Amino acid sequence: MTTRPAPTQVHLETFGCQMNEYDSELVRSLMKQDGFVFTDERERADVILMNTCAIRENAHNKVYKHLSELKKLKQQRPLVVGVLGCMAQNLKEELTDIQPLVDVLAGPDAYRQLPMLIRNAMLSQEEGLYQKGLAVDLSEYETYHDVVPDRTDGVNAWIAVMRGCDNFCSFCVVPYTRGRERSRDPEGIVQEAYRIAEQGFKQITLLGQNVNSYRFGDWDFARLITAVADVPGIQRVRFTSPHPKDFPLPLLEAVVAHPNICKQIHLPLQSGSDRILGLMNRTYTNKEYRSLVERIRAMRSDIVLSTDIIGGFCGESYADFAETYRLVEEIRFHSAFIFKYSERKHTIAARKFPDDVSEGVKTERVTRLFDLQRNISYERNREYLKTIIPVLVEGDAKRSAAQGMGKSDGNITVIWDKRTISSRPGDMVSLAIYDASSTTLYAEGPLMK
Ligand code: SAH
Ligand code: SF4
Ligand code: F3S
Repeated sequence: MTTRPAPTQVHLETFGCQMNEYDSELVRSLMKQDGFVFTDERERADVILMNTCAIRENAHNKVYKHLSELKKLKQQRPLVVGVLGCMAQNLKEELTDIQPLVDVLAGPDAYRQLPMLIRNAMLSQEEGLYQKGLAVDLSEYETYHDVVPDRTDGVNAWIAVMRGCDNFCSFCVVPYTRGRERSRDPEGIVQEAYRIAEQGFKQITLLGQNVNSYRFGDWDFARLITAVADVPGIQRVRFTSPHPKDFPLPLLEAVVAHPNICKQIHLPLQSGSDRILGLMNRTYTNKEYRSLVERIRAMRSDIVLSTDIIGGFCGESYADFAETYRLVEEIRFHSAFIFKYSERKHTIAARKFPDDVSEGVKTERVTRLFDLQRNISYERNREYLKTIIPVLVEGDAKRSAAQGMGKSDGNITVIWDKRTISSRPGDMVSLAIYDASSTTLYAEGPLMK
């Protein structure tokens, strides 16, 4: 009698943005179809995969740190190590040469080949050959339209509607790691939304590096998001990340008017200085950005706006920084992600402009922006005090299982004591807000459904 060999156990760790989270769901799906099983325990795995991010230096450092930890594991037993995602794509030479422990490299458009690459690496290791598997070609067409992601969350489902980016902001590595823009066919997206609703998910987040430049035949993003929001059972639709250049009136009208599209827009600003915006190749000016914000707020005063800002970009003078600071003060975003400029290989900025703002000045500028924004977020969140807002329950709070956690329509985290409010993940509950910090709203019972 022959015994079947135990299935290969795979451990997958994900770094970076939501698109990487989604891609990891695709990877799990593709590998499970091929007979692999997944484990949460690194120590039990035959294969360890890391889905990586290359956006800033600290994202790189995290991956290198994990790789050095794997070195020890690999000395103890047979182990195949795979690096996936944006760093695999961007650092193909370096990762295979410097890191002899990496067996497989697969970029974001190569996941269909992953099961084969891993099997080959395992076989080659058994024979003592240690050949490397490399698949880092970018595609103009791959959208994984026929791959059903292996979703783990029970409340929110991601759908990537477009992949890649053609904007070439001068600081950004994404056009190099993820290649050219391509949109997925709308029929498949809407069908997937129906399936997601049947499975009990309450929220869909449409994803793309440049999501609102979605175009497929005569479908644009306004038409797509409306079709998804119309799917019965889906109570909330979000989208990320949009570019300020792609907000035509029909899209704004869809967002402000459709009851199932969240009244929340992430609007990456990057800088308030026209000179820096020009060097960044962002294609809008301070004035154009402000008038977009004004237009949005005139249509819907309760909209929640968030943003991304880079401090200390090449050539940023104190006057440039002061313009960013003033604009943040004026617009009063609900929240902002603030980053120190981090030079990335291959980008236009790395090739053309010296990274000439010192580390100390970068730190000082982002700290000042961060302090400003924290005060604004605090005041903005305090506007919710003594109001009752709809909250989609996600599960337990990170800090304590005695607390429940959910999100407001504007994507602000809401926390409550589970003894006073009973709810299950996926419930939409109306909660009274009694306290607020710069990051969190605190709700109290009694429960009003
Ligand atoms: N596609 C999205 C976001 C891409 S990355 C968009 O266009 O908005 C998310 C954020 O990381 C960017 O908005 C930017 O603020 C920041 N970022 C990108 N490259 C960076 C770099 N080289 N250094 C510092 N921050 C960077
Ligand atoms: Fe990067 Fe700009 Fe594309 Fe966003 S729009 S992914 S910042 S190049
Ligand atoms: Fe990082 Fe790639 Fe996303 S570089 S932010 S994982 S698109």
